[in-house]
Amino acid sequence: MKPLLKWAGGKARLAPQIADAFQGPCEGTFFEPFVGSAAVYLHLRSRGLVKKAVLSDANDKLVEVHRVVRDDVEGLFAALDDLPQDDWRDRYYEVRETFNQGPCKGAAHAARFLWLNRAGFNGLYRENRKGIYNVPIGSYARLSIPKADHFRIVSELLQDAEIICGDFLEVIDAAREDDHVYCDPPYVPLTKTACFTGYHSSPFGFEEQRALALMARKAAFRGARVVLSNHDLPVVRNELYPADSGFRYVAKPRVARAISRNAASRKKVAEVIAAIGPFGEQEVA
Ligand SMILES: C[S@@+](CC[C@H](N)C(=O)[O-])C[C@H]1O[C@@H](n2cnc3c(N)ncnc32)[C@H](O)[C@@H]1O
Repeated sequence: MKPLLKWAGGKARLAPQIADAFQGPCEGTFFEPFVGSAAVYLHLRSRGLVKKAVLSDANDKLVEVHRVVRDDVEGLFAALDDLPQDDWRDRYYEVRETFNQGPCKGAAHAARFLWLNRAGFNGLYRENRKGIYNVPIGSYARLSIPKADHFRIVSELLQDAEIICGDFLEVIDAAREDDHVYCDPPYVPLTKTACFTGYHSSPFGFEEQRALALMARKAAFRGARVVLSNHDLPVVRNELYPADSGFRYVAKPRVARAISRNAASRKKVAEVIAAIGPFGEQEVA
């Protein structure tokens, strides 16, 4: 099931490999603390591999979109009808300005978010330090908003999900025996200068990467199965998810980076899928 949103680092294409990494259906709660477009959850839920779920992200404006799709899809259609269609190019910056003025709640907000996601450059979501969305207009021949049926199917798949805004640390802490956790954080950058962590106004640095790896180990020792994605870099394999701490590498996918403005630099970049647990009750140092 395709997500409604385009999202940097979205896992629609890798979802089957990520599903395999869990080695079976989730008997407890599925946690996805970096939910983004919800591509992985939608894949798992539509195949009956997940029932109960907690989906979260630190981006409150994004989280509100998932809530509106779950709770008020008809209101969302009405709000989308009020947004520009044929004259979308002329009115892009007007809609962006209204979005930034808020309020960031309800169907009107969700409609603007989805509209900007389809009309803005490459589906990118980027904010400045003040939390202002500043993505320029995209160069599309026409505006393509998902069809009503697509919205209704996604809405149905979200009905049993708890959708919350929060930091990954709070969310992973709740995972216990029989639970599954999928973590898709902003990746460790490939070079010191190439640092795209601009999904919202707070950065995601190496300290956060370390904290996530530790949280994953702790959750695994509480009996959860945790799967994580990241760039395939020595620092990821040796420092963050080392095999001698119990991490296994279940796949080494290669995906095209879809973020670069320049088609030539959208080359294949190696990514890893790592898995850990479940181990049973034990303390982690
Ligand atoms: C690589 S994207 C996830 C993409 C998602 N798997 C998908 O398929 O669309 C990373 C997500 O982490 C979120 N994020 C960044 N820092 C975070 C934090 N400290 N806690 C929770 N979420 C965070 C971003 O808002 C972004 O949506």
